[in-house]
Amino acid sequence: MADVRLEKVSKTYEKHTVFHDLDLTAYDGECFTLLGPSGCGKTVIMRLIAGFEQPSSGSIFIGDTLVSSLEAGVHLPPESRRIGVVFQDYAVWPHKTVFDNVIYPLRIQKIPKDEAVRRTNAAIESVNLHGLENRLPYQLSGGQQQRVALARALVSNPGIMLLDEPLCNLDANLREEMRFEIKELQRTTGVTILYVTHDQEIALALSDRIAIMDDGGRIRQVGTPYEIFENPSDSYVYLFMGVSNFIPVRAENNQVYIEGTDQPLDDPPEDTMPAGRRFVAACRPTDVELTRNGAPVSGIVVRRNFLGPIIDYRVTIGGSEVRVQQGTREALERNLIFDEGEPCGVRFLALQWYDSDSSEERVQA
Ligand SMILES: Nc1ncnc2c1ncn2[C@@H]1O[C@H](COP(=O)(O)OP(=O)(O)OP(=O)(O)O)[C@@H](O)[C@H]1O
Ligand SMILES: [Mg+2]
Repeated sequence: MADVRLEKVSKTYEKHTVFHDLDLTAYDGECFTLLGPSGCGKTVIMRLIAGFEQPSSGSIFIGDTLVSSLEAGVHLPPESRRIGVVFQDYAVWPHKTVFDNVIYPLRIQKIPKDEAVRRTNAAIESVNLHGLENRLPYQLSGGQQQRVALARALVSNPGIMLLDEPLCNLDANLREEMRFEIKELQRTTGVTILYVTHDQEIALALSDRIAIMDDGGRIRQVGTPYEIFENPSDSYVYLFMGVSNFIPVRAENNQVYIEGTDQPLDDPPEDTMPAGRRFVAACRPTDVELTRNGAPVSGIVVRRNFLGPIIDYRVTIGGSEVRVQQGTREALERNLIFDEGEPCGVRFLALQWYDSDSSEERVQA
């Protein structure tokens, strides 16, 4: 098993630089996820690690072995890297049975027949396809085909698995089921998994650590799912991780006021703000409460949508509109259902402070 390490890796196609001086380490045995918008370079990173392409500059290591470096003239071919790969389109061979699909890499490696059969059966077992060995792909569901691709990647006992959106073609239930199976594979085999997705929910559920990329191919933050969700390093990451309110604020007299009002917010950042400084307070709709007494901040309900278990409000405070989500049952019990046009109080339970420009670091909190 092995770490995967990228040091100052750049990739340029003709004039288009996908990323520049990228540093990244996935530790031995962890599930490390690249999460970022379409086109940010996730698949390119996977192709470089697999060895299907060479970086334009920089080095890639697997364990202590330098596997790619144009400068050093090193390029280990894919078959020498002990990497299993499942790419976005998970192509399984349509004319081969499940068994023949999975055993294929071992035939190429000329593994003795007995051993190859034994390992193939074990791989099929590990993805719960036992009993379907003789089916052809068209006789399988999308999720089962996906598992054939996983078994085929696993059969060579790779130290590293590269999984590029392997669940993107599945319905929600199957996606959840496969998520558990991938986690289980990681646990039972100890394989290092590099996982690519643009789905935050999958990333949070599956990963030991996540790297958030932006569309310029930069890594904005690396951390555990909890760190990324609870402590986003900038407003880009904050926004990427869920529905967000960004409320423009200004600093004055060691207080932080909502723009367009003289209403201060509780618990301003500890650092004294230079007077007149403008930035944003960020919060999730579920981290805001409405109150009856107009305190601590007063606003007006402009929209109310009943969504079953929650009520979704839009509330204006000064010139800002804030989205608020309240549990329906609790709101009913506490007489906290508001009509459109009604004044209300607003309490912010978890504010984070960021510079207005999402390319900058967070304000010290
Ligand atoms: N062979 C290539 N030649 C030129 N440009 C390429 C090549 N491969 C990828 N690119 C460009 O590199 C950028 C990153 O592509 P990549 O496939 O890594 O995106 P991604 O993050 O995987 O997106 P998605 O989530 O849509 O799969 C894109 O702008 C793409 O057009
Ligand atoms: Mg991709």
